[in-house]
Amino acid sequence: MSEIIKPEKKPIIFSGIQPSGTLTLGNYIGALKNFSLLQDDYDCIYCIVDMHAITVRQNPADLRRRCMELAAIYIASGLDPKKSLIYCQSHVTGHAELSWILNCFTYMGELNRMTQYKDKAAKHADNINAGLFTYPVLMAADILLFQTNMVPVGVDQKQHLELCRDVAQRFNGVYGNVFTIPEPYIAKVGSKIMSLQEPTRKMSKSDPDDTFVALLDDPDTIRRKIKRAVTDSDGEIRYDPENKPGVSNLLSIMSALGAGSIESLTAELAGQGYGTLKTRTADCVIAALEPLQNEYKKLIADKGYLQGILDENAKTANYLANKTLRKVQKKVGFASRG
Ligand code: TYM
Repeated sequence: MSEIIKPEKKPIIFSGIQPSGTLTLGNYIGALKNFSLLQDDYDCIYCIVDMHAITVRQNPADLRRRCMELAAIYIASGLDPKKSLIYCQSHVTGHAELSWILNCFTYMGELNRMTQYKDKAAKHADNINAGLFTYPVLMAADILLFQTNMVPVGVDQKQHLELCRDVAQRFNGVYGNVFTIPEPYIAKVGSKIMSLQEPTRKMSKSDPDDTFVALLDDPDTIRRKIKRAVTDSDGEIRYDPENKPGVSNLLSIMSALGAGSIESLTAELAGQGYGTLKTRTADCVIAALEPLQNEYKKLIADKGYLQGILDENAKTANYLANKTLRKVQKKVGFASRG
């Protein structure tokens, strides 16, 4: 009898991006760019996290449109929808169901320590809702639902990942090995791209337009924004995030986009002015984003194709999610299903 050789199971990658605004160069360098690099060696699941997005008020029509746009951006960035599972969080009910259970295994004190919650609560003082507070629990549910091994994210999500691991370990401690404990995947260069106007702060899509490069900005806009980026007055091109955050940010952007190591870039640009540094940075950004933008334009014109992918993948994602969810429900003692 011939032996059946089972293909080796690949480790699982899960990550998500909120469809809550214009995606920035920070989202691209810190997360998106790495997604497609992983898709051959891992089983990759990339979610459009629309449920997270409503923790701040959204215009419904805009949110719906942005979900579709994010699906197009995922594919335009190089994700092959045949290899990577791209789907909408709200299409998979397991996210909310597991999130509720995990809420009962997460302490208020843990959530109180989350810096993103504190920042967002300060920014949206008129709408500090419970969803904003339990946001990291939903994120833990996203990850744990798929028995994820690794989570590619920017450094701002590290604290959420640590909470996810703590909650999973706590649950496993009570019920046995139900969840895989995920590891963060945070790139060495570019895991925190800074604002162009206030380079001591993270580049963020919720800040004013001139503080970030948007993924779909045209070349002239990219050049203009980078030309106006805040630097310093000592005129030396050197990597020193503490004392020269603006210059260091531009060097990180170039390096993360494949222009060379920070050391080789500083050696190459030594003695030149900030004008040259900015021109070179803009060239790198435009060259990196151009193929994505061209592909995006084609994809977004075919809504039927994108909807088809989201519909089909929601079925697969529901199937995979329910495998974990049923196990968890049984462990906690929910009534059996006939
Ligand atoms: P979101 O939508 O804010 O950002 C998406 C990804 O982009 C990264 N990022 C950055 N990286 C470098 N520099 C920056 N300036 C920068 N800004 C954003 C973020 O770290 C993130 O990786 N909570 C998540 C979404 C999420 C998720 C998940 C991620 C929900 N569930 C499960 C991983 C796994 C968020 O708000 O990302």
